[in-house]
Amino acid sequence: MSPHEKKEGTENRKSGSLSRREFAKESAVILGICSGSVALSSDTVPITKASAVFTGVPMSQAAKTIRLTVNGWQYELQAEPDWALREVLRERLGLLSIKDMCNGHGACGSCTVIMNGRPILSCITLAAECDGANIETAECIAAANPRLVDAYVMNHCMQCGYCTPGFIVSAKALLDRIPEPTEGGIRDALGGNICRCGTYPQHILAIREVIGQNA
Ligand code: FES
Ligand code: FES
Repeated sequence: MSPHEKKEGTENRKSGSLSRREFAKESAVILGICSGSVALSSDTVPITKASAVFTGVPMSQAAKTIRLTVNGWQYELQAEPDWALREVLRERLGLLSIKDMCNGHGACGSCTVIMNGRPILSCITLAAECDGANIETAECIAAANPRLVDAYVMNHCMQCGYCTPGFIVSAKALLDRIPEPTEGGIRDALGGNICRCGTYPQHILAIREVIGQNA
C-alpha cells in the first residue's frame, strides 16, 4: 500500500467514512455472514435458546416433529413433508446467510450448510429427513473462524456478496476435512458454488492465505 493510500484511509476514518476493507467487513455483518441473530416461528420449540421472535404458521396433520442441533443450539420443530431444509433454517429459524440463487434447483451452492460434518445443499434436502442432524451455517462458522472471514475480506472475495456465505461454508467444510488442501483440492471443493460476480480467483487466494500458502 502506498503512503497516499494510507493517508486516504486515515482521512476517511476521521470524516466518518469507511475504507474499502472496513466497508467490506461491515457488509459481511449486514449480509448475515457474521450475525448470530435468530428469529423463530410459533411451532419452533427452542430447547436451549433463550430469546425468540414468534410468527404463526398453520401446519397440516402430515407435519413431522424433528429435532435439530443448529449452530450449537437444539431445536424441536414441526416440518411439512415437502419442506426443504433451507426453508426451515432460513424461514423458520431466521438464518439469513442461507441464500437461493437458483430457485432451489440445487445448481448454485448458495444454500450450502454443513450437516453432520459434510457440506450439503439445503434446498434439495428434505427437512423431515434431517431429524437428529447437527447443522452448521455461515453464522456460526464466521464467528468461530475469524481468520477465514478476514482472509475473505482482505482478498476481496465479495462483490455483491450474495454467494459469499455459501462459499464460506464450503471452505470451512474443506478445511475441516483437509487442513492443507492443494489448489486443485480448493477448486474441487468450491466447484459447486456459483458467483455471478466472478470472484472465483479471490476465493483460492483467501483459502491459501488461511493455510499459509500465499507468497
Ligand atoms: S439454492 Fe441454489 S443450490 Fe440451493
Ligand atoms: S459476489 Fe456477487 S454473486 Fe458472488
